[in-house]
Amino acid sequence: MNGIELATPSSESAPGFAADLVAGLSRDRKELPAKYFYDERGSRLFELICELPEYYPTRTELDIMEAHAGEMASLLGPRCLVVEYGSGSSLKTRVLLRELERPAGYVPVDISREPLQRAAAALRERFPRVPIRPVCADFTGEFPLPHEGLGPARRAVYFPGSTIGNLHPPEATALLRHIAAQVGRGGALLVGADLRKDPAVLEAAYNDRLGVTAAFNLNLLARANAELGADFHLDRFRHQAFFNPVRSRIEMHLVSVGEQQVRALGRTFHFDDGESIHTESSYKYGSGELLELAARAGFRQARLWLDDDRLFSVQLLEVP
Ligand code: AVI
Repeated sequence: MNGIELATPSSESAPGFAADLVAGLSRDRKELPAKYFYDERGSRLFELICELPEYYPTRTELDIMEAHAGEMASLLGPRCLVVEYGSGSSLKTRVLLRELERPAGYVPVDISREPLQRAAAALRERFPRVPIRPVCADFTGEFPLPHEGLGPARRAVYFPGSTIGNLHPPEATALLRHIAAQVGRGGALLVGADLRKDPAVLEAAYNDRLGVTAAFNLNLLARANAELGADFHLDRFRHQAFFNPVRSRIEMHLVSVGEQQVRALGRTFHFDDGESIHTESSYKYGSGELLELAARAGFRQARLWLDDDRLFSVQLLEVP
């Protein structure tokens, strides 16, 4: 089958967006889930972020993959089924697939349908012998894995890009448990995670000079206007990103410029001057800390790779 598996029905607005917007804007500390960044435009903006000089994670992870994919592939072994969470453009996956011995299949899972379709088509062309079965789903929820025609195989979840850092630690642990159950005994998880470092380096990565990250952040409001009929004035909110050392995370916010009211879904939301909507957290772990979370979920570490500057980590975890 060459199509796309839809774990969520196609509709005008993303499933859950309306309910999450009302709930998030009704809280004392307003917030919106970061997963709604990734509509068509948001996904394109994120791809631009990945190429920014200040945003070191993507190129550093790619360097780690290029240097060590051979070793990763031999540890994963032949006939491995690779399931990728949050696959986006699947750039790093190519490096891995190139090295894997006769992979049983590749299942990219992403919330954004069109980019997923494009990436799957490009991968089919590049790897014609690998069965590629995209699944359009929110990987933080339940979704069925395709198995038809994929045969019994060692399962490995590939979770690159430090996307795990966008989950609060209890959610990350719950997801790691879910992954451990999905891959089963003997299964593996290859996870890429950004590391804690000089806050100036971290803050520069989320406050780029060109303002692409600001546009990415504000696109959430544009999406709420387009899909939910909200009336956010984009010029009345400004992007803010800073490192919170207590929680060891970058926080992104949209800060109200002046006091204002916003209408959405038949409700009115009041903003004080300077009040913010917390739109994203990006946790930065020490290299052993993520392992602690994973160990709680039933994994043990098989191998850890870092770049020379210790900016980023990729680790292979296994369910014993
Ligand atoms: C996808 N995720 C790992 C990115 C991050 O760094 O937390 C999303 C992002 N937000 C702003 N810039 C990039």
